[in-house]
Amino acid sequence: MCGIFAYLNYLTPKSRLEVLDLLVTGLKRLEYRGYDSTGVAIDSPDSKNIVMVKRTGKVKVLEDAILEHFSGGEYSEPVMTHIGIAHTRWATHGVPCERNSHPHRSDEGNGFVVVHNGIITNYNDVKTFLAKRGYEFESDTDTEVFAKLVHHLWKTHPTYSFRELVEQAILQVEGAFAIAVKSKHFPGECVASRRSSPLLVGIKTKTRLATDHIPILYGKDDKKLTSDQDPDSGKPQVLPRSDSTSEFMPLEEKEVEYFFASDASAVIEHTNRVIYLEDDDVAAVRDGTLSIHRLKKSLDDPHAREITTLKMEIQQIMKGNYDYFMQKEIFEQPDSVVNTMRGRVRFDGNAIVLGGIKDYIPEIKRCRRLMLIGCGTSYHSAVATRQLLEELTELPVMVELASDFLDRNTPIFRDDVCFFISQSGETADTLMALRYCKQRGALIVGITNTVGSSICRESHCGVHINAGPEIGVASTKAYTSQFISLVMFALVMSEDRLSLQQRRLEILQALSNLADQIREVLKLDSKVQELAKDLYQHKSLLIMGRGYNFATCLEGALKVKELTYMHSEGIMAGELKHGPLALVDGSMPVLMIVLRDPVYVKCMNALQQVTSRKGCPVIICEEGDEETKAFSSRHLEIPRTVDCLQGILTVIPMQLLSYHIAVLRGCDVDCPRNLAKSVTVE
Ligand code: AGP
Repeated sequence: MCGIFAYLNYLTPKSRLEVLDLLVTGLKRLEYRGYDSTGVAIDSPDSKNIVMVKRTGKVKVLEDAILEHFSGGEYSEPVMTHIGIAHTRWATHGVPCERNSHPHRSDEGNGFVVVHNGIITNYNDVKTFLAKRGYEFESDTDTEVFAKLVHHLWKTHPTYSFRELVEQAILQVEGAFAIAVKSKHFPGECVASRRSSPLLVGIKTKTRLATDHIPILYGKDDKKLTSDQDPDSGKPQVLPRSDSTSEFMPLEEKEVEYFFASDASAVIEHTNRVIYLEDDDVAAVRDGTLSIHRLKKSLDDPHAREITTLKMEIQQIMKGNYDYFMQKEIFEQPDSVVNTMRGRVRFDGNAIVLGGIKDYIPEIKRCRRLMLIGCGTSYHSAVATRQLLEELTELPVMVELASDFLDRNTPIFRDDVCFFISQSGETADTLMALRYCKQRGALIVGITNTVGSSICRESHCGVHINAGPEIGVASTKAYTSQFISLVMFALVMSEDRLSLQQRRLEILQALSNLADQIREVLKLDSKVQELAKDLYQHKSLLIMGRGYNFATCLEGALKVKELTYMHSEGIMAGELKHGPLALVDGSMPVLMIVLRDPVYVKCMNALQQVTSRKGCPVIICEEGDEETKAFSSRHLEIPRTVDCLQGILTVIPMQLLSYHIAVLRGCDVDCPRNLAKSVTVE
């Protein structure tokens, strides 16, 4: 996944240095999306050319290069209208290096430059087509072909507008993209588009916007089609010769600034008025006017894109008084779990309403089975709630890793209900699994944390987990919010089961105490930090548990691996004697979760198997459980809650432990090596 950002000021004086500062700050907000290389493109001082700076490494490296490269006085002169584009990359085609960094250009003269997030799957064909016409390529990327394709169209259609050129180009490419394009042949203009990768437009004006929507201009003549007009044949159309759409321009502001970004965190500090573009929208700014175009109209296409108001606050994207986003997000969990339940769980009436799926509940109740599909931490939230879902829905529940599910071509039927759990809503494996199930007629339920994301938009219905932006690459608050969302679903599904009412009430009561209990667990932070000092120099950590806490072992082990680069393994305690016990001796670090729940006795058996092999486990147990504490001098006591919610409380010490070990080992907590916040490639 990469981050793209573009800034256009119209009749708003800004020096190029100020523009560069805006671009770099925007990239910093997007750095979690990918950070192996970066780049910017702005107008040259004579405004006749485009200058670019690209660097391998994080945004800071680029920032230093910009200070060095653009020190001249001419970059301090204010410019009334300008467009700058920027990019932070997570490599998919071509190794991380300057040559492969974005922006990519059409020719030596930087006629057209583009920043891109996604993958152009037919780039080899396009590359061959262009090479036969004399184009030479300087990078190993798919993106470069787009810049050269636009250039080729410009040469062969000299009368086409910038927007028309880009539209023709996106008709020729396949795959996923979010792009922003700048050109020295069309100064002061920007064209952006998306397909399967997120892109939004922020709008900042001195006065209140005259409109809260932007009409979509369809088809040949850029006309707004009325509802009685037949939609297009659906075939891509030759673009209009004329681009005279001024009479339709709905957003014509003086002194306006536009921000194009992969997500809202790069825009919120400038404006909270944004438009989420949809697949194959083409947004064009020309003479300060923003217009949105689509080549073809389907029956259910809207006539306009709404200008929405972001609810996100700037402090949500800042680290606050924490050292890392991940640390902040761990400590946000008392609030994020409440936000997940807010407006949905009515503790007074013991009722639950999930607005995003309520109309589908009758259909879901008639289904043949539930399938929960995700990757990484999102998969673990499915493992964590499977047992409760089986109990309260009385349906078969399958949990699947999206990649393996696809490898197996798992049979899917029309009476299946498939849940796709994804914080980013853009994970390619999960999105591909969604499309696989949708094609087979299953009901698709999205459980996501990102408004406007692909999984969110392609689901029939869903639940937004409302965890707030999660910037740290290692997922923490999204996990607990996914967990709670699935618990709420289970409660909704059983609301009319008399035999389950007592159980439901017990769970609802526990939910009402959860935020305070999470605060209690967070008070263990300094104790966990001490434990980390014992563990951080080891090579491995085994984490054992079972029942409702097996998911915590998997999630805890993933946290340790991805944050500290130590080996770690989540082990089902019942499997210990079938092999893993051979790993245990006096020097192997072990952590065991032993709570007073239906599998307590079996966990105690496992604990004794470990200690009888000279294992000295760290134990996570319930407050005051002297019997269990007696087995180890190192234990973490957590408050008692209902069995099916223990996993919310037991995962937090694991999050804290992995965080502290990572800090002690000098790892980059928010941007672990080799990883990105969302894996948008299969
Ligand atoms: C979790 O800490 C990891 N960053 C990773 O496993 C992540 O959960 C996985 O890639 C799925 O991401 P998603 O929830 O955005 O789909």
